Amino acid sequence: MNAIEELESQVKAREVPKHVGIIMDGNGRWAESRGLPRLEGHREGSTSVREVTRSARRIGLKALTLYAFSSQNWSRPPDEVAGLMELLREYLLKEREEIMDNGIKLNAIGELDKLPKYVKEPLDALRTESAKNQGLVLTLALSYGGREELVSGVRALAAKVASGALSLDDITEETVAGALWTHDLPPVDLVIRSSGEQRLSNFLLWQTAYSEFLFSPIAWPDFRAREFAEALLHFQTRERRFGLTGAQLRRAGT
Ligand code: IPE
Ligand code: IPE
Ligand code: MG
Repeated sequence: MNAIEELESQVKAREVPKHVGIIMDGNGRWAESRGLPRLEGHREGSTSVREVTRSARRIGLKALTLYAFSSQNWSRPPDEVAGLMELLREYLLKEREEIMDNGIKLNAIGELDKLPKYVKEPLDALRTESAKNQGLVLTLALSYGGREELVSGVRALAAKVASGALSLDDITEETVAGALWTHDLPPVDLVIRSSGEQRLSNFLLWQTAYSEFLFSPIAWPDFRAREFAEALLHFQTRERRFGLTGAQLRRAGT
């Protein structure tokens, strides 16, 4: 067993989080600090995506959600946006085999209609092809914003109320959660953000109400299977109290 597998088996021996979200930050600074174009950081970051996804699958996570491109990222310089879109297309074409061979279900959340056709087409094709896979659900947050998602959900619910299909009393936590793009995903247990920034940047606002947060100083291109397993081991030392007291939890034997 190599060192990574050793770490992963330690994670598996304890309670594994169901759903981990990652804010993959620091590609640009990683490249700039090496005198490279920012796009090289994004390219290297896609290797981290591959490694961390493999690790998540080996560990047995149910869901992994990766923040790859935010609604706000459209305002970056056009050549960086275009480079990121090209990389996404490349990723979707290159990873097809690995996704299918490993029973991964590819999912996507965000304002997907804003994506260029050359990304949207391979994305839709792989989502359809992998829809029946039973393994890890890998969700790419693309052109994603938590506020944008809430606005879209509120609109959908309001339309149902206006048409009489839904009464005000039927608006519950469940109906709100069901109106979001993440309606078929479990709540997020852990959010990891690489590269030192300690903010949510519009990622999964509703779904992270009771998440644990782990901020790593490591830039995303250097965040690999080892760093991922270490983050999960750290998460497993946390006591999630959900409003209760520590004594109540111990009495309940959790
Ligand atoms: C994350 O890296 C990738 C995207 C937001 C698309 P950044 O590009 O934000 O890298 P930094 O934060 O500028 O270093
Ligand atoms: C958040 O990173 C979005 C992604 C990782 C895709 P940013 O680098 O865009 O976030 P801010 O602007 O620093 O908050
Ligand atoms: Mg950034």
